[in-house]
Amino acid sequence: MAKSKLPDELIFIENRRARQKTTNASMAGKVCVVSGSTSGVGLAAVRRLAHGNAHIVMVCRNPTKAENVRTELVTDYNVPVDIVIADFCDLGDVRKAADTLLGDYPRIDVLINSAGLHSTARTTTQQGFETVFCVNHLAPFLLTHLLLERLRQSAPARIIQVNSEGHRFGGLDPADLNWEHRRYNGYRGYGASKIAQLLTTWEFTDRLAGTGVTINAMHPGDVRTNIGNNNGPLYRWFQHNVTWHMLKDPAISGEALYYLAAAPEMAEVSGRFFHLTVDEKPAAPALDREMGRRVWDLSLQMTGLTPDP
Ligand SMILES: NC(=O)c1ccc[n+]([C@@H]2O[C@H](COP(=O)([O-])OP(=O)(O)OC[C@H]3O[C@@H](n4cnc5c(N)ncnc54)[C@H](OP(=O)(O)O)[C@@H]3O)[C@@H](O)[C@H]2O)c1
Repeated sequence: MAKSKLPDELIFIENRRARQKTTNASMAGKVCVVSGSTSGVGLAAVRRLAHGNAHIVMVCRNPTKAENVRTELVTDYNVPVDIVIADFCDLGDVRKAADTLLGDYPRIDVLINSAGLHSTARTTTQQGFETVFCVNHLAPFLLTHLLLERLRQSAPARIIQVNSEGHRFGGLDPADLNWEHRRYNGYRGYGASKIAQLLTTWEFTDRLAGTGVTINAMHPGDVRTNIGNNNGPLYRWFQHNVTWHMLKDPAISGEALYYLAAAPEMAEVSGRFFHLTVDEKPAAPALDREMGRRVWDLSLQMTGLTPDP
């Protein structure tokens, strides 16, 4: 392939148009835990995984929406679909969800962390965390940690972080992860959460080396979902009347996640960032390993996990 003329920072423009990889590998019987699977990217993922005959475990906050998805998947694909309820604004809920998963599933083959949001305003969770940082980074960080041993026992297993090109917005300040000392900006708040997730993904990668468990991050395309619907009427009007026309069907996200979860050629690939299925270099702040170790320690502290020895 001819080398691109675009600088690394803009290569996503090309990758967005690239031909994406697919696989028909079966996922029959594989237990796939997917957060945020009531809507958008996560929903597209469970649809595609169900089509591939996987055993679906939805981790969701809204029982009614989850039941509707379960009915759809069972009717369309006749696969087992279970639901575990957890609000990712509450790390106690995440711990309970992990306990349920560990009690109910002797093996977990795939974990897809897709739950997420974008907020134009700073809000805080009951435990005092900035909400976007908590839902997009701390909650999946905690869930992944708590499931890690089970994933190791289930090897080969795969973890996929639904991240974003939005990590390029920047915004990560390890001295102010909760945005108490800076004016909040929705893009930078979102960017901070996604950079933190990428930095800790590389830390997970090192700790999982040689275990048969892989971890990768991905941008799920620019797709029509409910993200941002929690914001004000002007934001929603713009999203649905202007941005909407430039966005694609989230089925492309489902197909890409299926590829990353199922393709035999992905079995040993770990610690990479993909634009859908194209391997891409993330922005420089997301590659700062010294910062990564700092964010890892802070994330352990904030989620109440035991610090590394
Ligand atoms: N859409 C895009 O173009 C795009 C681009 C880059 C990255 N992403 C990433 O894709 C992921 C999914 O977003 P989406 O676009 O699919 O948006 P979406 O349609 O709004 O779906 C978000 C999912 O996360 C769940 N969720 C939100 N807050 C939660 C909480 N507090 N606790 C538990 N679950 C919660 C939602 O549950 P409810 O159904 O109950 O609301 C929903 O299932 C996010 O990580 C986002 O950053 C999306």
